Amino acid sequence: QELQMNLEQIEKGGYDHFMLKEIYEQPSVIKDTYRGRLHANEGLIQMAGIEDNLEKFLNAERIIIVACGTSWHAGLVAEYIFEEFARIPVEVEYASEFRYRNPIINRKDVVIAISQSGETADTMAAIKLAKENGAFVFGVCNVVGSSISRETHAGAYTHAGPEIGVASTKAFTTQITVLTMIALRLAKAKGTLSNSVFHSYLQELEIIPEKVKEALETNERAKEIAAVFKDAPNCLYLGRGYNFPVALEGALKLKEISYIHAEGYPAAEMKHGPIALIDEHMPVIVIAPKQGHYDKIVSNIQEIKSRSGKIIAVVTKGDTQVRELADYIIEIPETSDALSPLITTIPLQLLSYHIAVMRGCNVDQPRNLAKSVTVE
Ligand code: AGP
Repeated sequence: QELQMNLEQIEKGGYDHFMLKEIYEQPSVIKDTYRGRLHANEGLIQMAGIEDNLEKFLNAERIIIVACGTSWHAGLVAEYIFEEFARIPVEVEYASEFRYRNPIINRKDVVIAISQSGETADTMAAIKLAKENGAFVFGVCNVVGSSISRETHAGAYTHAGPEIGVASTKAFTTQITVLTMIALRLAKAKGTLSNSVFHSYLQELEIIPEKVKEALETNERAKEIAAVFKDAPNCLYLGRGYNFPVALEGALKLKEISYIHAEGYPAAEMKHGPIALIDEHMPVIVIAPKQGHYDKIVSNIQEIKSRSGKIIAVVTKGDTQVRELADYIIEIPETSDALSPLITTIPLQLLSYHIAVMRGCNVDQPRNLAKSVTVE
C-alpha cells in the first residue's frame, strides 16, 4: 500500500493530481508538439502527413472535423483558424451525430478526426463512414498506435505524452497547436496569408510556451476565485470568436470534475434568452482578451452587470476597461486573436481544478466518467 502510494506520487511528479501535473506540463509538451515541425526562422512548417497529402488538402472542397468532447472544442477552434488562415470551408461535427445522420460526404472532402485516446467509438465509427464514402481521413491523436491512428489514411500525433487525468487539458492545447500548424502550412501553399503575417504567426507560435508558462502564474488567483464560487449551483462561460469554443471547454472542465452545472455560450447570444438566467447568484466567466471583439465583449459584460451578475473576466495584462466592470479579473499575457485559445484556456483549467479540489471531488477520476469512451 505504502509502495503503491509512493509510486503514484512519483508518477504525479510531486503534484497532488495528474490533472494538475498535466496542466503544468503544457509549456513543455507544446514544444514537443511543434519540435521538428515548426521552423520559425526558416519560415517553414513540415509535417510528413500533410506534405504527403498536400494536394488532397489543397483540392478539398471542404474539411469536415469529427470529434467528441474536448477534442470537439479543439475542432471548433480549428474551424475558425482554418477558415481565416487558409480560406477552406470547415464543418465541425459531433462524431456521435455524424455517424447516424446519413451526412453528405463527397470524395473531395477531407475529414480530420481528433482524438486524444484514439479509441473513442463514435469517432472511429465516423471515420469508417467517411472512408466508405471515399473521403480522405486525417487523424490528430495523442496515443501512438491507437486504433484511430491506424484507421486513418494519414495523421499527426500531438506528442503530449500520456494524459492520465480524465479531464483533458494538455491534449486540448496540443491538438490546437497541431491544427494551427496545419492551417498555417495550407495558408502558405495557397498564398492566403501574406509572407509577413505567416512569419509573424510562426514566430508567435514558437514563443507560446513562454506565454503559457506566464498564464500558469494565475494559479494563486484562480485558487482565490475558486474559494468564492466553489458552492455556486450554476455557472456561465462567455466568449466570442476564437474564444467561444474556449467558453464551451471551460464549462465542460467545470462540469466534469466539480459536478457544477455550467454552460458555455457565445457572448452576444445571451440577449436571445439566456440572459434571463442572470441574477446575483449566477457567476459569469467572460473571456475578454484585448485582441478579439474587445469593445463588443465589454458591452456584453455591461449587459450582465446591469442584471447584477457576478463577473469573473479573463483579460489581457494591463486591461483597464473590463477591470472597472468585473468583480474579479485574471490577467494573462497578450497574444494574437487566433492564438489566444492556447492561453485563455489555462486559467479556466486551473479554476475548475481548484473548485473541484475544494469540493472534495475525485479530480482525476470523476464519477460516471472514463478516460476513453470506447463504447457507444
Ligand atoms: C474531456 O475532458 C473529456 N475527457 C471528454 O470529453 C473527451 O474529450 C472525449 O471523450 C473525447 O476523447 P478523445 O479525445 O480521447 O476521443
